[in-house]
Amino acid sequence: MEDIIKVNNIIKKFGNFTAVDGITFSVKKGEIFGILGPNGAGKTTAINMILGILRVTSGSILIDGMDNIKHATEIKNMIGFMTQETVVDAELTAYKNLEIFADLYHIKDVDSRVMESLRDGGLTDFANSKAGSFSGGMQRRLNLVKSMIHQPKILILDEPTTGLDVQNRVDMWKRIKALAKNGVTVILTTQYLEEADQLCNRIAIIDHGKIKALGTASELKKLVSNESILDIVTDESSVNKVSAILSKEFKLQVTENIDRVNAPIKADIALLSKIIASLTKNKIQIISIGIHLPTLDDVFIKLTGSGLRDALGEQQSNRARIMNMGR
Ligand SMILES: Nc1ncnc2c1ncn2[C@@H]1O[C@H](COP(=O)(O)OP(=O)(O)O)[C@@H](O)[C@H]1O
Ligand SMILES: [Mg+2]
Repeated sequence: MEDIIKVNNIIKKFGNFTAVDGITFSVKKGEIFGILGPNGAGKTTAINMILGILRVTSGSILIDGMDNIKHATEIKNMIGFMTQETVVDAELTAYKNLEIFADLYHIKDVDSRVMESLRDGGLTDFANSKAGSFSGGMQRRLNLVKSMIHQPKILILDEPTTGLDVQNRVDMWKRIKALAKNGVTVILTTQYLEEADQLCNRIAIIDHGKIKALGTASELKKLVSNESILDIVTDESSVNKVSAILSKEFKLQVTENIDRVNAPIKADIALLSKIIASLTKNKIQIISIGIHLPTLDDVFIKLTGSGLRDALGEQQSNRARIMNMGR
């Protein structure tokens, strides 16, 4: 696939502070490319440079082969953008919010495009309601269709689901996936590991303005371990027994956490069957047992250390659990 966006060693300094410190990546046509990092990592700064809102201190950005600053006018129609903050005019109706944007892009048949957009956003019934009366999820949907009003081939989303509840987050993922399926190239930033994992074809993990790793979710996970993780949940009183069996009989390096025992293991079903047989023979109650690949959580820990954990409060408890596993 052809690269539609090429970001070459971009740096952004604010005075003495370097917010983006030499980032290079390319995005392929039709791809969903994720920039994953905690607050302050430099995500918005990088995005704003790609959009040409912010000048690079050094480096260059090519969009469809054109320098994004020199060819700003040509590029403008090619890109849709949704900012981190939901920006709809609360006093205006959904229809009017879209109409203003459609006019801005000199769209010919404004009414039919606005109606089509409202339909895409599931907002047809609310065309004449003030955007200010909308729920967070509805406002975000309005915002999304607004960024797509001119049917750009590139869509840039800065933290599209931050602050949304789970249901609206999943809804937004579906919408983004559908756009990509229709050929739109998407770059999005996120602080959610799961979002990057579920949604993005490739992910750049950034911290302190630098890319720490770049690849598909599974490539990134392999950075942590080529092996999988055995995960057994049992009742608390059996944890010690499970550990003993796994380490003595199967020579696994176990870690315990309350009602859970984990160990790196080859993804080998025959081996898993032997483990189950042995646990059964020892009359241990298994609540759940499985083998899973390392998660992006593990990747984060490995690549960025504790600073990142502190920044991502929401994911802290999950991370803490993994930390306790001693990996
Ligand atoms: N206009 C600015 N002037 C000075 N510092 C800035 C400016 N914009 C962003 N920064 C700093 O650059 C760093 C990266 O910010 P930002 O790109 O907004 O991070 P993110 O979007 O990943 O949360 C932060 O430390 C932020 O405080
Ligand atoms: Mg930001």
